[in-house]
Amino acid sequence: MEKRDELYAGKAKSVYRTDDPDRFVLLFRDDTSAFDGEKKEQLNRKGMVNNRFNAFIMEKLEQAGVPTHFEGLLSPTESLVKKLDMIPVECVVRNVSAGSLCRRLGVEEGQTLTPPTFELFLKNDALHDPMVNESLVVTFGWANTAELSQMKALTYKVNDVLKSLFEDAGMLLVDYKLEFGRSEGAIVLGDEFSPDGCRIWDKATRKKMDKDRFRQGLGDVIETYEEVGRRLGIQFD
Ligand code: TMP
Ligand code: ASP
Repeated sequence: MEKRDELYAGKAKSVYRTDDPDRFVLLFRDDTSAFDGEKKEQLNRKGMVNNRFNAFIMEKLEQAGVPTHFEGLLSPTESLVKKLDMIPVECVVRNVSAGSLCRRLGVEEGQTLTPPTFELFLKNDALHDPMVNESLVVTFGWANTAELSQMKALTYKVNDVLKSLFEDAGMLLVDYKLEFGRSEGAIVLGDEFSPDGCRIWDKATRKKMDKDRFRQGLGDVIETYEEVGRRLGIQFD
């Protein structure tokens, strides 16, 4: 496999073409952004930590029967992935109240949500990722009804797998965001799963161990990501 030109640079990752039209290289950079790109910083080791973290989680999900685009690690900061036709909608599940849910509904942070909630957001920084619903997604053609129901089922399946994985390591999976795409007629999990796109709290102390450390200026961002990884059994260099 040969890495070719850059196809796209996102806020924290870049996508490169390869000599195989159906495979891309995903480069995890040290760039960190929040508030739709308003707050930006370079955090040493972040690309490596998130690349390894994502590989570990994607492998766990594949083993549990969730189809993912992940094919393998290529280097400390690069992974090989299947090309997907991305659906521009983010799927969010919440087990505990936090973030925009608290701001939107005025509910207190830290409430257990039973059953866990499922929300959809349009991926659009300029519009600040507005919340949408299934009707809007179908009407505007971002995904059809069958695709939406698969996305929802897979997003909940990820919850079943990851909630217990984190719980067994002394952590709470508060919420997370997933992105899906199409590959050969199937819905496949794309993008990444790392502490950048979820909330993780220590079970006993409720210490924040995810990107809220960066958003809220709590410090030790990457050190804490590494601690999450180590508790799950991930080896970093
Ligand atoms: P929220 O509380 O800001 O709506 O976010 C819910 C979860 O989804 C949180 O873990 C962060 C993640 N998320 C992203 O990573 N990127 C996004 O664009 C959105 C909307 C959410
Ligand atoms: N959407 C991500 C976040 O909520 C990144 C960003 O907003 O720049 O932090």
